[in-house]
Amino acid sequence: MFISFEGIEGSGKTTQINHIVKFLQDNGHDCVITREPGGTRIGEKIRAILLDPASKDMYPLTELLLYTADRAQHIREFVYPFLSAGKTVLCDRFYDATLVYQGFARGLDIGLIDKLHKLLFEDLKPDITILLDLPPEKGLSRAWKQIENGARKSVETRFEKEKLSFHNKVRSGYLELARLEPGRFRTIDASMDENQVRNAIIKILSTEIDLNN
Ligand code: TMP
Repeated sequence: MFISFEGIEGSGKTTQINHIVKFLQDNGHDCVITREPGGTRIGEKIRAILLDPASKDMYPLTELLLYTADRAQHIREFVYPFLSAGKTVLCDRFYDATLVYQGFARGLDIGLIDKLHKLLFEDLKPDITILLDLPPEKGLSRAWKQIENGARKSVETRFEKEKLSFHNKVRSGYLELARLEPGRFRTIDASMDENQVRNAIIKILSTEIDLNN
């Protein structure tokens, strides 16, 4: 099974994915955790270019192709091998982030992004996508607190530095995707506290995953 976690900056995805992998493993479920961009040695190098505030002059098309290059490596090196081995793959962001950030927010043609995904990646989509939703003002204030206290890297803040209007487009893009694919998306109010969000995700996954496997 392939499960992705999505949301705006500061939505708590990374914290929650760590809680969930621990919960699933404690319950005997064979799962691995990964992320995009990153997740492979080559992907981590691409991530550094993408998230570096010094890359502020990057064209949206360059950005799209770098996220796509990262995904090409990640799918072949990590996602497919683990899925084929019967493991559950928990992924911190996947293709929906490209539709939302490069499509809805940067304004690249959604049709082009969709075509590229079908052409290159056989339209691979997660079985379940957990969307952590909250207002961007709240998410950004959490994200900047984490950057200030060192819990988040300041060399990876290119997107946090985008205007509020950009983050509003990201949020509404995600909500639109969730509306279009209600069978795959599970939207959770991420303004609740960490434990409440964790319990809400566990409740959802417990109905979808056979925990004795
Ligand atoms: P994160 O690891 O903190 O979630 O940061 C990854 C950033 O990259 C985040 O701002 C969203 C962005 N992103 C895209 O713009 N397009 C993509 O396809 C992916 C996977 C992430």
